[in-house]
Amino acid sequence: MDGADLRFDINEIGRDFIDDPYPTLARLRRESPVHENADGSVFLTRYADVQKVYQSRDMLSDKTVEFGKKFGKCPLHTHHTTSLVFNDPPKHTVVRKLLAGAFTPRKLAEFDPLIDRIVDRLLDRVEDMGSFDMIDDFAKVLPTEIISFMLGVPEDIRPQLRGYSLAILGALDPVVPQERLDAGNAAVTEFSAVLNDLIDRRRANPDGAAQGEVLEALIFGEHDGVRLSQDELIQNCIFLLNAGHETTTSLVGNAVGTLLDNPGEHRRLIDDPDLITTAVEEFLRVESPLQIGNRLAGDDIELTDRVLPKGTYVHTSIAAANRDPAQFDDPDRADLGRKPNRQIAFITGIHVCLGATLARIEGRIAIGKLVSRFPRLAQAGERERLPLARFRGFTRLPVSVR
Ligand code: HEM
Repeated sequence: MDGADLRFDINEIGRDFIDDPYPTLARLRRESPVHENADGSVFLTRYADVQKVYQSRDMLSDKTVEFGKKFGKCPLHTHHTTSLVFNDPPKHTVVRKLLAGAFTPRKLAEFDPLIDRIVDRLLDRVEDMGSFDMIDDFAKVLPTEIISFMLGVPEDIRPQLRGYSLAILGALDPVVPQERLDAGNAAVTEFSAVLNDLIDRRRANPDGAAQGEVLEALIFGEHDGVRLSQDELIQNCIFLLNAGHETTTSLVGNAVGTLLDNPGEHRRLIDDPDLITTAVEEFLRVESPLQIGNRLAGDDIELTDRVLPKGTYVHTSIAAANRDPAQFDDPDRADLGRKPNRQIAFITGIHVCLGATLARIEGRIAIGKLVSRFPRLAQAGERERLPLARFRGFTRLPVSVR
């Protein structure tokens, strides 16, 4: 796009942007860092601006009005306005406090042996297969198992989770065809019924199972005398199940894509497995699984070259911020030993990803063991990308390990 007129509107992006957004993002960051879209919203691409928005208490997450215009009154609207990620304090604070105890580093360390066992079992299986799909046969299984364990979701329901999450999260993309809205609404309705049953059963048997500590905290916990309603419970559980596996699946899939595209860095990680900690941060930076966020200005806010007035709807390009040359040397290069690396794939501020520590643990164990055990890992067919701008990942990534 260099040399041509800079014509960009987040509400009119197409497949070329989804396939490779980075050249467009680089040009926006240079020439139009606070870029106005036809509907009056702005698209931010500089690290400093994106950070400032996430740090500001005046930038709001509640999208009841915007999503009213986008979805109308429907199950998708109920879902995307009821979970903590789209709530502001004090509603947000209640759910965040109820969940906090289950996500401390000490609590999460208890999952290490289970994660090890699941990854070893998966690696045994794919070794027997020889060639397999990195997403379906490996990347999505671990995070789905772990978040399902945390919420006590029975095994027979687990295979449906990725379909639900892609349908529900896919409706958040800037451009959404009607079929995707229909699929999203159907998914919220079906998933809500499943969770309604699960919650009712758990309410009736509070001490009934070893699994499901997070569900228990949400049902029985209270903060400042407030308990969640059945609707809040259902929508927060749907959000947690989606957030808990979708982006981590993409972290692992994108990491494998990055290694296959950068054989020198792949070799470096095989030769020095201790690089896995900085490598995971770099995978999160160069191919951020959640690429675009949104906030509503609850007050005026001063950014790079202007003041945005209260009421402005803001799109934050996490993907562009994570490749900003003002923050990262040689930002388009994957350097698995990069230090410092203040990537913001999990954002910052009060909505900072609650599952960041868990995602890092899952990523390090899954990618670390895969790379050490199969040094001959290679691509074995065409990759297929998720057809989404907000979430970056693959639907298919065929590989071989022999
Ligand atoms: C690589 C994997 C992951 C990435 C890149 C990621 C990214 C993010 C981002 C960017 C947000 C902020 C959204 C916003 O406010 O606009 C977020 C929020 C959240 N994430 Fe994650 N996430 C990941 C994994 C997980 C996991 C494994 C869990 C749970 C087990 C999780 C649970 C949450 C929750 C509960 C929130 C809402 C926090 C709040 O609103 O206070 N995430 N995540």
